[in-house]
Amino acid sequence: MPKVTLHVDGEVVEKQVKDNANLVVLAGIRQFPELKYGCGMGRCTKCTCIVLNGGDDLAPPNWKEEKMLGDKVKEGYRLTCQMTIQKDIEISQENISVKPPKKTTAAIAK
Ligand code: FES
Repeated sequence: MPKVTLHVDGEVVEKQVKDNANLVVLAGIRQFPELKYGCGMGRCTKCTCIVLNGGDDLAPPNWKEEKMLGDKVKEGYRLTCQMTIQKDIEISQENISVKPPKKTTAAIAK
């Protein structure tokens, strides 16, 4: 069972999770209440974290992460709701404020 270390609100939280766990799902059932999250679907960026250790064991960022985080994915930022945990990992939600990109509306042809 992988160990998750989360830095959030000046605290360090360590928990063992099941293989392939999604931390936002665990937060939704009160098993990881310290985690900040919102939609759970890759749309709001409230679950954004930066991976401090263990990022090499994660699947690469998916299209939702690339769309919502842009160049920040290259700096190690991830959407926690889009990650599944297979190995020990250390993440931080300290002082992270990422806003979703502005929606663009398609021009309507007359
Ligand atoms: S919880 Fe909304 S993007 Fe992850």
